[in-house]
Amino acid sequence: MVRQLEAVIFDLDGVITDSAHFHYLAWKQLAADIDIEIDEAFNETLKGISRMDSLDLILAKDGRENDFTLEQKEELAAKKNAHYVELLKDLSPADILPGIKPLLDAIRAANLKIALASVSKNAPMVLAALDLTDSFDYLADAAKITHSKPDPEIFLVAAAGLGVEPANAVGIEDAQAGVDAIKSAGMKAVGVGTGLVGTDELVSDTSKLTLAMIQKVFQI
Ligand code: BG6
Ligand code: MG
Repeated sequence: MVRQLEAVIFDLDGVITDSAHFHYLAWKQLAADIDIEIDEAFNETLKGISRMDSLDLILAKDGRENDFTLEQKEELAAKKNAHYVELLKDLSPADILPGIKPLLDAIRAANLKIALASVSKNAPMVLAALDLTDSFDYLADAAKITHSKPDPEIFLVAAAGLGVEPANAVGIEDAQAGVDAIKSAGMKAVGVGTGLVGTDELVSDTSKLTLAMIQKVFQI
């Protein structure tokens, strides 16, 4: 079968808006509450990782994984989320990262489909605050995902939700776990940021993302 570009599948945090930074601030505070210090380098390992898996990684960092019951861990995760949601309270369309809205409009104008593949349970709320819900044809439901990135599950669910073959989609990600998930899903991967390995194209920031570039990456 001839491959044809049919869809572009986006990560949310760090690609559509800079909410990745708010995740970091909320985890840093939560970790400090239980005497664990995390820095931006450690935070890189949390990007694209689900809430509970992120907490497990933070606890394991200092050998604390057996210090809390499941109920206590759920309380800690809820506390982090409450702080994260508080940090998002003023989120507005002004917080859409540069180039993203014109890119979404160009993809739609080219009759290609658009999906979101975020493992964040806050994703629908974040998109609504950015006034971008209508720009997406399908949102993969993080609550129904069994494995977070780097497993390909969320990208495969997004492609299936759009009714396209993974090989006919391009994924866009700012995290290494996300790039690995896209590649495992059998899609071409565009990375945003620095230090990502295994991408088919890497741009320094979202203002460099264009439909022409995505079409070119698809042909690689
Ligand atoms: C991902 C973020 O998009 O969502 C992670 O990169 C975050 O940092 C994960 O932990 C889960 O988000 P939430 O909003 O469900 O806690
Ligand atoms: Mg991200």
